[in-house]
Amino acid sequence: MQVESLPTTAYANQKPGTSGLRKKVSVFKENKGYLENFIQAIFDTITDRNASSLVVGGDGRFFNLQAIQIIIKIAIANGFKKVIVGQNGILSTPAASALIRKRKAVGGIILSASHNPGGPDGDFGIKFNTANGGPAPEKVTDRIFTYSKNIFRYLYIDSDDIDLKKTGGHRIEKTQIEVIDSVHDYADLMEELFDFTKIKSLLSSGNFTMVFDAMHAVTGPYAMEILVNRLGAPKETVCNGKPLPDFGGGHPDPNLVHAKELAEKMFSDNGPDFGAASDGDGDRNMIMGHNCFVSPSDSLAIITANATCIPGYSNGLQGVARSMPTSQAVDKVAEKTGIPCFETPTGWKFFGNLLDAGKITICGEESFGTGSNHIREKDGLWAVLFWLNLIAEKKQSVMEIVREHWQEYGRNYYTRYDYEEVDATRAEELMQHMRSNLSEIKNGDYHGVTISQCDDFEYTDPVDASVSSKQGIRILFEDGSRIIYRLSGTGTTGATLRVYLEKYESDPARLNMHTQETLSRLARFANEIADIPGRLKRTKPDIIT
Ligand code: G1P
Ligand code: ZN
Repeated sequence: MQVESLPTTAYANQKPGTSGLRKKVSVFKENKGYLENFIQAIFDTITDRNASSLVVGGDGRFFNLQAIQIIIKIAIANGFKKVIVGQNGILSTPAASALIRKRKAVGGIILSASHNPGGPDGDFGIKFNTANGGPAPEKVTDRIFTYSKNIFRYLYIDSDDIDLKKTGGHRIEKTQIEVIDSVHDYADLMEELFDFTKIKSLLSSGNFTMVFDAMHAVTGPYAMEILVNRLGAPKETVCNGKPLPDFGGGHPDPNLVHAKELAEKMFSDNGPDFGAASDGDGDRNMIMGHNCFVSPSDSLAIITANATCIPGYSNGLQGVARSMPTSQAVDKVAEKTGIPCFETPTGWKFFGNLLDAGKITICGEESFGTGSNHIREKDGLWAVLFWLNLIAEKKQSVMEIVREHWQEYGRNYYTRYDYEEVDATRAEELMQHMRSNLSEIKNGDYHGVTISQCDDFEYTDPVDASVSSKQGIRILFEDGSRIIYRLSGTGTTGATLRVYLEKYESDPARLNMHTQETLSRLARFANEIADIPGRLKRTKPDIIT
C-alpha cells in the first residue's frame, strides 16, 4: 500500500468555534475534501507523529462511522505510531478526554456536534483535544485554521476499512490500530472518584427511585454499565438508552425544553426522587429532584460546597472556576470556604490551563456543564454520580439539599434567553452598537437602579497571560444583579443571541419565589437596553432556560 499525497483545494470557512468545527452534515459530505482538509490541518500541527498515539471516537451521530474510517486512513498515511479507536466508533467526550490522559496520547479527535440535532439534515462536528485531554486552546485552533486556509494536499492510504465492531489490534503499515471497549476505562475512573458502595445501597434501598434520560445519544451504554451493571439500579432506570444516529429525531440537549419527557416525569405526582439527562456527546448534565430543577449554576455551587464529603475530593479543593455568564452562586461558596474563584470566558477550553496548573479542582458553566480535574472536559455522568453520592451521604432529597444551600449562601435567581437563528448581520450590529455605547448604557436612567459597571468582557489567562477579548457585554448593577449578552459560537444557522439574567437574594423569606417573575424587571431592562425587538425583530426568546 502506498501513501498518496492527494491534491486538494482549501476552504476559507474552517475556523473552529466555541467547541470545534461545527457544520451541517451536508457541508462535510458534499464538499470534496472538506473533512480531509481539516483533519490534515490538525495533523500538520503535530510534529512527532511517528512517536505518538492518537485517540479517535465520536458520539455516534450520522456520518460518525464514515468519517472515522477516513480519519484512520489519513492518520496511517501521516505515520502515527498508534491510533486508539472506540468500539463502533463510539467515545463520549469525557471518555475520550480520560483516554487521551490515561494512554498519554498526543491528542484526540472527537466527532460530535454536542447537543445539536443529528441525522442527514442535522449537524456534524470535529473537535481536536490536546495531550492534556482538553479542547485545543485558541493558539492551537488558530494554527489549524491557518493551515486549513493554505492546504493544497492531504496524505491518504487506500486501505480496507478497519473492523470497528470487535475490540482488538490491527497493524497497517507502521501504524498500530487498537479498537477498545468505549466504556470500561471511563467506568473505572468513576469508581475511583465516588463511593460506589454507598450509592449502590442507596439505589437498592427500595425507597429511592431514579431515572436517567440518555436522549438516544452516547451516554446510553455508559449509563447502563455504571448505573445498572455496577451500581445495581433496575434496567428501566436508563431511558432512551439506545444511541441512534439521529437521536431519535430529538434535540439531545438536557434542559427542561428538550428533555421534556423527563421534566414531566419529575414534576408528576409520585415522580422519581432523582432525575438526570445528558447530551449528544455526554459532557452536559441536567439534575432534577422530585418537583425540583437544579439550575446548573446552583449545581456547581452545591458541588463545590459539598465536595469534601465525596471520596475523590476529600482533601479539599484548590480553587474553582466558572464561565463569565454562569451565576455567581459559586463565588459565594468560594468566598466562605476561602478558596480562589476564577471567571473565564465561555467554553471549556479556558479551564484547561487552570486545571493543568493546579489552580482549580472543580469548574462549570451555566450551559449544563460541570466537571473537575479528573479530565479536561465537562462530564455529564460525573455530575450525576456526584449528586447520587451526595444524596447517599446527606440522606436528604434534592430539594432539601438545594434549599439548605440557599439558606446558607443566599440564592442567585438566574435565567438565560436564547434568540435562535436570527439574522447574523443584525445580531452583530446589535452587539457592535452596545460595544460602542458602553458609557451611555452605564449612565442611562433605569428608574432608580444604578449600573456600577458596563464592559465587554476581556480575560487574561493567569497561567500563560494570553488575552481573549470581546467575550460578552456585561452590565453589572449595584445590587449584584447582572445582564450579559453574547453571541453563540456553536450554532450552524444564522446567529444566536444569548441573554443571561441574574439577581441575588439573601432574605430568607424570599428564597422560594418564581424565577421568571423575580427576573422580569431585569428582562425588561435587557430588552430595552439592546433594543432586541427593534434590532432583531423578535418579541420573545425561542428558548428560556
Ligand atoms: C455553548 C455554551 C457554552 C459551552 C458550549 C459547548 O456555547 O454556551 O457554555 O461551553 O456550548 O458545549 P455557545 O453556543 O454559547 O458559544
Ligand atoms: Zn456536549
